[in-house]
Amino acid sequence: MKLGVLLSGRGSNFVAIADAIADGSLEGCSIAVVLSNLPDAGGLAIARERGIEAIAISGKGIPREEHEAKMIATLLEHEVDLVCLAGYMRILTPQFIRAFQNRILNIHPSLLPSFPGTHAQQQAFEYGAKIAGCTVHFVDEEVDHGVIVLQRAVAVEDTDTAETLAERILHEEHAAYPEALRRVLSGAYTVEGRRYIARS
Ligand code: GRF
Repeated sequence: MKLGVLLSGRGSNFVAIADAIADGSLEGCSIAVVLSNLPDAGGLAIARERGIEAIAISGKGIPREEHEAKMIATLLEHEVDLVCLAGYMRILTPQFIRAFQNRILNIHPSLLPSFPGTHAQQQAFEYGAKIAGCTVHFVDEEVDHGVIVLQRAVAVEDTDTAETLAERILHEEHAAYPEALRRVLSGAYTVEGRRYIARS
């Protein structure tokens, strides 16, 4: 199974996936390519250091459809089976989602459906949530929405700030993404309605 990773930032979730592949705890897949809309995304540089092909496809000044058509073509050229969004900060159009129907995963730093959108950890903190966390889910045409593969919870302590909470959530994200990929790649799980559950 070939993965294509899309990112816009530092890429720590990409690193967690790459580490799991490298240490043998995530068998049966490889990262075929890392793509970013931002040429200076830290994750691209890390990928190159690790010998993983990393390509910037800037979306600046071109229509969204044209940008995504380039992304889709590059993913197909690399024979990507599964797209992993790892801090990719652009909303995907239905055109992209249909090109990889049920083959796009995203990680979001909240327990969805609570707190979709940006600054999810801060939203949870300011709301006064007592349990926060992260979600790995299949991507559908709504933002931060789709069948949930797994979630990991984090207790919000009285001593937390939005920043310390975000750090602990990020730590859980780094375990969650490889674990979600293990489930998806195992073929042992299936979608029943909105539930992603072990096949009986
Ligand atoms: C993570 O918090 C992820 O949940 C969100 O964007 C952030 C990306 O962080 N979608 P990184 O670039 O993987 O370090």
